[in-house]
Amino acid sequence: MSARLPPVGIAGVCHAVFVDEELWAAYDRMGLSFQEHAADSAFNAHYDRPAVLAALGPVTGRRVLDAACGLERGATVSAFDASPVMVALARQLTADQVRVERAVLGEPLPYPDCAFDLVVCALAIHYASDRAAAFAEFCRVLRPGGAAVVSTQHPVMDWLRKNGSYFQTTLETDIWPSPAGEQPVHFWREPLSALCTAATDAGFLIEKLIEPIPAESMRERYPEDYERLSKEPGFLILRLLKPAAPDPGTPS
Ligand SMILES: C[S@@+](CC[C@H](N)C(=O)[O-])C[C@H]1O[C@@H](n2cnc3c(N)ncnc32)[C@H](O)[C@@H]1O
Repeated sequence: MSARLPPVGIAGVCHAVFVDEELWAAYDRMGLSFQEHAADSAFNAHYDRPAVLAALGPVTGRRVLDAACGLERGATVSAFDASPVMVALARQLTADQVRVERAVLGEPLPYPDCAFDLVVCALAIHYASDRAAAFAEFCRVLRPGGAAVVSTQHPVMDWLRKNGSYFQTTLETDIWPSPAGEQPVHFWREPLSALCTAATDAGFLIEKLIEPIPAESMRERYPEDYERLSKEPGFLILRLLKPAAPDPGTPS
């Protein structure tokens, strides 16, 4: 069960307690409407997903873990999500061909060491209260030489939208429209260096840092988003490598 977090500022207001469950509660409430939205939305389908799949490379025959579900087929996929509703939907959508677990980013994952060739975590690491622990678990379940591809909201975009100090880690809130009514969606904002340090302290080497540009498919479908995302960052992607052998320079 998720721990209670210490008091934090949410959108400039100090709240006495905040429970981790709030980080995925919006997805429980949005459920199918989020999945339908994400299937063809500008930011998911025409921006993040093509760039993440390109960063992932060939997946056929690879053992892939989809952390916070959403990967396409073609690989031996295991998946998890914190939202019981999203877990049920993923099982339904994949006709139980994919092993989908309920698990939380930043908590111990229900997989053995070195079980995967690839981990993909698309647009979810900013919902983990303990990003360092989340990266450590990705590293543990990857085989040596394996890779993790992690996409997230660009910290500069979030800082420009939310103001405050770029260097302070804060819990922020966006309000998303949905058929179930307006949804408060909470997420962690932190400087890029903090995200990178969480990954490298977990044992990863940063192979690539990608600032995607929109897919051509967005140009006609969402011309305004295309224009904007061609000029400003929206998301970023880290491709991380678990070294094949321990770095001899690393003290044991
Ligand atoms: C923006 S969606 C991304 C879904 C998918 N990866 C994609 O790219 O379409 C974020 C997902 O993260 C899940 N989530 C939120 N907080 C989480 C947490 N702490 N641990 C695991 N999953 C979480 C949500 O339930 C939701 O399914």
